[in-house]
Amino acid sequence: MCGIVGYVGKRNAVPVLVEGLHRLEYRGYDSAGLAVVHRGRLQITKTAGRVQDLRDKLREGVRSSVGIGHTRWATHGEPNEVNAHPHTDSSGRIAVVHNGIIENAEQLRDQLQADGVRLVTDTDTEALAHMIAAEAAQDGALEDAVRRVLRRVEGAYGLVVLDVRRPDQLVVARNGSPIVLGLGENEMFVASDVAALVRYTRQVIYLDDGEVATIRAADYQTGMTSRTPTTVEAETGDYELGPYADFMNKEIHEQPDALRRVLRGRLDDRFATARLGGINLDARQLRGIRQVKFLGCGSAYYAGQMGALLVEELARIPADAEPASEFRYRSPVVDPDTLYVAVSQSGETIDTLMAVQELKRKGGQVIGAVNVVGSAIGRECGSGVFLHAGPEVAVASTKALTNMAATFALLGLLIGRVRDLSAAGGQRIVAGLRALPEQVSRILADEEAIAAAAHRFAGAEHMFYIGRVRGWPVAREGAQKLKEISYVHAEAYQAGELKHGPLALIDGSMPSVVIVPSDDLVAKNISTIEQIRARGGRVIAVTSAGLPEDLADAVIRVPRAEPELEPILLNVPLQTLAYHMAAKLGRDIDKPRNLAKSVTVE
Ligand code: F6R
Repeated sequence: MCGIVGYVGKRNAVPVLVEGLHRLEYRGYDSAGLAVVHRGRLQITKTAGRVQDLRDKLREGVRSSVGIGHTRWATHGEPNEVNAHPHTDSSGRIAVVHNGIIENAEQLRDQLQADGVRLVTDTDTEALAHMIAAEAAQDGALEDAVRRVLRRVEGAYGLVVLDVRRPDQLVVARNGSPIVLGLGENEMFVASDVAALVRYTRQVIYLDDGEVATIRAADYQTGMTSRTPTTVEAETGDYELGPYADFMNKEIHEQPDALRRVLRGRLDDRFATARLGGINLDARQLRGIRQVKFLGCGSAYYAGQMGALLVEELARIPADAEPASEFRYRSPVVDPDTLYVAVSQSGETIDTLMAVQELKRKGGQVIGAVNVVGSAIGRECGSGVFLHAGPEVAVASTKALTNMAATFALLGLLIGRVRDLSAAGGQRIVAGLRALPEQVSRILADEEAIAAAAHRFAGAEHMFYIGRVRGWPVAREGAQKLKEISYVHAEAYQAGELKHGPLALIDGSMPSVVIVPSDDLVAKNISTIEQIRARGGRVIAVTSAGLPEDLADAVIRVPRAEPELEPILLNVPLQTLAYHMAAKLGRDIDKPRNLAKSVTVE
């Protein structure tokens, strides 16, 4: 996915931009480029290769106090050097880097050509450079010129504009594609992702949609009255692989620490409850909640399903989950006594953001469960719970999902304790939550056994993931993980539904992963395994229930936990299983084909 970085300040911009682009490489790209102002002229360097190639191409001795850089993932036009950003106008005055897609690009390009402008690239972005240059030719601030142009632009953008005649500033704009300002001491950074900034500053401001800002070394003007900077939790090491082969494996192994962080300060032993100050609801308001509804997309939706079960079990009020992408389009009935929870790692997913906006319009009560502090969904909700998983780099969500589920256990505990959950019941959950990080470490210590099972089944073209009740969202998330990173077709089914149709598909070529928590449904799950095996199907059982070794073709064990919390543990080996199947198949695990880490456009 495209990445943006920009700098204005006391340092030489060139190494700052190159370093920033290097930090954005993990998002995937096909070309890169940067523009600085050197001796009063724009100096542009581009490559159809890697950031390292760009570094090699840079002219020695180029210094500048201002510049912009970009990693491009082609949308309009081939991934070649000409189409790489930054793009400029014909006179070489304005340079632009842009993320997103301009929907009326063709019309804008036609208009420019009709006006006699010679377009040299196939991109939508080049049109912006020419249009801004034309507007900037009139007197007035660059920001005003950019605003006038953006009125004619349809689509999504994160944009940074450099004007050779105003080398003390950059103009930035956001509409649907993240832009974050990094505040330094007499220097200012801008990027599409904090990964590019954390080496220099942790004080950031996330632009809102529709916002245009001018940044200078000493200050920024966003047009909004006052903006309080956010301190980002991320550190440079979060974006480095260290001893791991890829980020997914690294993030799977970070889960014990991520869990410790999400629980820190939130377990109240004295009253056997949870502390979630950010949701801003007192005991009376919590008691008034009649239903909880989780909204999210993909894995965040499956985490919401886990959350719905946890809330129903612990708080004994109805709870369910729905894909935010459906909710926003179906004109939902919004109930004022329902607590809606918008679930999102990135905090930028457009469908979830739109669902929140729809809820707010209809007077719904919505809180966020978001990982990225300062992101759009968190800000739109205004209150909620941060997931504290740390930056998640791999496209496939692992530690964020685990922290979502743990957060929903805290929410269930909190609502439960103002209702009918006894102090003893609360203490049992508090102790169970506290045990989770170490239990996840024990699962991960067995990675080799899981890898061995993965290698045995890596030749399968299709797989079933079977679970019932607590095992059901786990099965769905497990199938999702396998599909997205290995490209093996996987389908999740409720165990009880098998014999109503899908059992017909079982044969020696269709292995099934069966989730067996240690609850009162163990016998039923064992019988499901037997039914599959009786039809020649191979089974991987993932269980905390101490099943005999010969019950399945492979048995992956997790520690026994408090029953309500077991989905959190049972999910972990499924991540590892998918990971090792994908690795065996030689997939690009961190950047699966056709997928983006955050889906900010329709
Ligand atoms: C799956 C995955 C996606 C995301 C989904 C929502 O591993 O990563 O399904 O869960 O796109 O993203 P967020 O949580 O950022 O809203």
